Amino acid sequence: MAVENRMDKIVALAKRRGFIFQSSEIYGGLNGFWDYGPLGVELKRNVRQAWWSDMITEHDEITAPAGAPTSFDMVGVETSIIMHPQVWKVSGHYDLFADKLVDCRETKARYRFDHVRGRWASYGGNRIFVATDKDAEEGIAFVEQRALKFFGLKKDKLAAIEFGTGAHGGLSFNGPPFTAPYTPAAAIEGLRPITDADSFDSVLAPEATKPGTLTDPRDFNLMFQTYTGALQSDENKAFLRPETAQGMFVNFKNVCDSSRVKVPFGVAQIGKSFRNEITPRNFTFRSREFEQMEMEFFCHPGQSLAWYQYWRDRRYSWYIKHGISKDNLILREHAKEELAHYSVGTADLEYAFPFLDAGSYGELEGVAHRGDFDLRSHSEGKLCKQDGNLVVELGADGKPKYLGSGKDLSYFDDESRERFVPHVIEPAAGCDRATLAFLCEAFHEDKQPDEKGVMQERLVLKLHPKLAPVKVAIFPLIKKDGLPEKAAEIYRAFKQAGIAVQYDQQGAIGRRYRRMDEIGTPYCITIDGETNTAGTVTVRDRDTLEQIRVPVTELVAHVQEKLKG
Ligand code: GAP
Repeated sequence: MAVENRMDKIVALAKRRGFIFQSSEIYGGLNGFWDYGPLGVELKRNVRQAWWSDMITEHDEITAPAGAPTSFDMVGVETSIIMHPQVWKVSGHYDLFADKLVDCRETKARYRFDHVRGRWASYGGNRIFVATDKDAEEGIAFVEQRALKFFGLKKDKLAAIEFGTGAHGGLSFNGPPFTAPYTPAAAIEGLRPITDADSFDSVLAPEATKPGTLTDPRDFNLMFQTYTGALQSDENKAFLRPETAQGMFVNFKNVCDSSRVKVPFGVAQIGKSFRNEITPRNFTFRSREFEQMEMEFFCHPGQSLAWYQYWRDRRYSWYIKHGISKDNLILREHAKEELAHYSVGTADLEYAFPFLDAGSYGELEGVAHRGDFDLRSHSEGKLCKQDGNLVVELGADGKPKYLGSGKDLSYFDDESRERFVPHVIEPAAGCDRATLAFLCEAFHEDKQPDEKGVMQERLVLKLHPKLAPVKVAIFPLIKKDGLPEKAAEIYRAFKQAGIAVQYDQQGAIGRRYRRMDEIGTPYCITIDGETNTAGTVTVRDRDTLEQIRVPVTELVAHVQEKLKG
C-alpha cells in the first residue's frame, strides 16, 4: 500500500466512524484544531487512562519496580491553563519559545525556517537551492521534478543537472563543484535545511515559480496571548500555557507540604496546552491546541542519571506494552546542539508515522533531564548558562532580568539530614500524538470471506483491548425467537460490569462484524438458536477470527479475563 494512501485511509476512517473531525468543520474548519467524536473521545480517554494507571493508580509505592534505583511516590495534580505571567518569563518561554519563520513573497505561504530543506541544483551556469517543505514530506523525486521544470528540461535530461547538498558558502555561479557531503540527520534523506549561510537570492521556495522570494528568517513566539479582566492593557496580558510542566514546578512546595511524599517522587498531570504553531500539519500530529501527559520526577542530583535512564526505558516499554511494534518505535538521544535551554540530556521516543518518508520518525514523547533549572529559576530568577554554569540572567541594568518567587524551593531530607535542590526528570508525552500513533499502528487491511464465501475487503483496527473504544458487541442473529430479548439481557450485564458494549441487530452478521472490526472492537458475541437450547453464545475474536462457544453464565467473566490483555 502506498504510504500517502495509508495515511489518507486512516484520516478517512477517523472521520467516517467518528474518531476525529476537523474543528468547526461546517465553517470550513480552523487550521490546527481538532474535535474528537463519539469513538475518538473513548479511545483518547483510554490512552489517558492507560498513562495515568501506569504513573499513579497501579503504581506500587512500596516496592521498587525492575530497573528503578529505589521505590518512589507518585501523585497527580491539575493546574490552571492560565498562570501568572512571571511563570513564563522565568521558565524561558517568554524570551526563547520561538520558532524562526520565513514568508514567501510570491505565494504568501509561511514556513518554519528549519523546515525549508532541499538541494542545490545547477544547470547551464544557473544555480538554485530547490526547496521543499519538510512538513509536506516531499522527497528527493519531488525536488528533482521541480529542478527539471525550473530549467525547462525533460525527465531524460535529469543527469545533466548537477545536484549537491553542501553549503552554498558564497560560491559564485561559476564556482567549483559543491557536492561536499552534509552530515546532520537531514542528509540521510538527501535533503538538508536551508541555513543563514545560504544565498537566499537563489532559493526556489517550496511553492514558488522563481527564486529569491523568501524573506529573512525572524522570530515568532509560539505562546497564545490573552488578557485577564476587563482591561486589555500590558499589565493584564496573560498566556495560554504552552506546556503543563510549569504547573508542577510552581506547586513543588505545595505538594511537599500537603502530602507525605519524600524525594524521589513524581507529580503527574494531563491537560491541554496551546502553541501557535506556524505550520500545523499532518492531521493531529502538530496542532495548536493539544493535550499533554507530563510528569516531573524530583530526585537527588546524585541519582538523577540513573532515574533518567529508568524513565526513558519505562516510557519506551509503555508504548510497546500497548501495541506499538518495536519496528516502528525508536529511542533517540539528542545531540548536544539539539538540547533545549534547560536540558542536560534528552531522549525522544519517535514513531514511524505513515505520513513520513520510509525510515523517518516523528516525536511522540521527550524524556528530559532538566537538572535543577526549573526549581532554581522559580526561586532565584530566570537562569542562563554562563561558562557551563547556570546563573541568574541579568538585564541591561545589571539586575536579574526576570525575578523568581523568592521562595525557598530546596528540599530537606530527614534521614540524610541533607538540604538540596532536587533535579528533575521529565517524561513529556503528547496525548493526541500517542492516540494518533495507536490509531496508525492498529490500522490493517485484509480480505475475509463473507457469508457466501466471497472475499471482501476488511478494514480492521487492531487496537490493544485496553485502548479499544468499544470492548464487546452483542448481536442477536435474528430478530425473533426471543433472541433480541436474550441479547438485551446480555448487553445490560456488560453495562453493569462497566465494560463498553454496543448492541447491533441490523443487517447480515458479516456486515455487523465488519462494522465492529473497523472501530477495533476486540470481541463480538452472537446470540443464536443454541443460546435458547444450550445456554451458550459464540464469542468471535477480532484478530484471530476464532469463534468459540461460551456459556452465558460465564460470559462477562470470560471477556473480563480476555480484556486484561
Ligand atoms: N515540558 C516539555 C515539553 O513540553 P515538548 O517536546 O515541547 O516538551 C512534549 O512537548 C510532547 O507534547 C511532544 O513530544 C508531543 O508529543 C506533544 N506536542 C508538542 N507540541 C505539539 C503540537 N503542536 N501538537 C501536538 N502535540 C504536541
